[in-house]
Amino acid sequence: MNGMPAREGYRLWADSYDAETVVSQLEDAAVQRLGVSTAGCTLLDVGCGTGRRLPDVGADLAVGVDITLEMLAKARSGLRLAAGDVRALPFASLTFDIVWCRLVIGHVSEMEAVYSELSRVCCMGGLVLVTDLSAESVAAGHKRTFRDAEGTTRELEHFAHTLERQAVVAYDHGLRLEKRQDGVVDPSVKQLYVDAGKEKAYEEQLGMPMVRALLWRKNAA
Ligand SMILES: C[S@@+](CC[C@H](N)C(=O)[O-])C[C@H]1O[C@@H](n2cnc3c(N)ncnc32)[C@H](O)[C@@H]1O
Repeated sequence: MNGMPAREGYRLWADSYDAETVVSQLEDAAVQRLGVSTAGCTLLDVGCGTGRRLPDVGADLAVGVDITLEMLAKARSGLRLAAGDVRALPFASLTFDIVWCRLVIGHVSEMEAVYSELSRVCCMGGLVLVTDLSAESVAAGHKRTFRDAEGTTRELEHFAHTLERQAVVAYDHGLRLEKRQDGVVDPSVKQLYVDAGKEKAYEEQLGMPMVRALLWRKNAA
């Protein structure tokens, strides 16, 4: 395992985190295609980072939680945020209609603890959304990197959790796969590669399912 622990890495990335990347843009588009409305719901965003996906969700109650205080400190004012670990969420069971865990699970080796907690805080019949780099992109050598304030490229540690293994673990925690969307590298993200001076990588990665979005439904009873 190479790369720095997530908490250390996001402490350094927090200042510039909100700029969209290939991964974050493909992820958000995949989530939009899943077509899950958060209007009028109770929503928990686990590993919310700076809370950048929380404004304008139209939820009756939207709460974000993250382990990195420096990320939470960058959030716009007015959001409801808490410090906490996805492996031990500071919320009562059966609280939220929709639980997001976006681009987080690969930072945690204990995937069982993640699904256990996401399912626990979700209402019966509710939805759990889990997104991350696809196992294919990790196998193809894609790393989770960012540039620190000095312009040095840093790598974050990442644990690849296959879809098959996630399905087994999710099932054990009362979750069934309802929908899935892949974020495939396509011309919509070409400019981000160009801006980073990575045109060659764009040509190599065109068509690759870089990101996977999994929508789980919690058993009603
Ligand atoms: C790639 S960012 C995603 C932020 C946000 N979900 C988004 O899509 O913009 C990953 C976030 O996961 C958080 N994180 C990593 N490990 C965590 C853990 N064990 N518990 C809670 N948050 C964690 C990091 O602090 C970071 O803010």
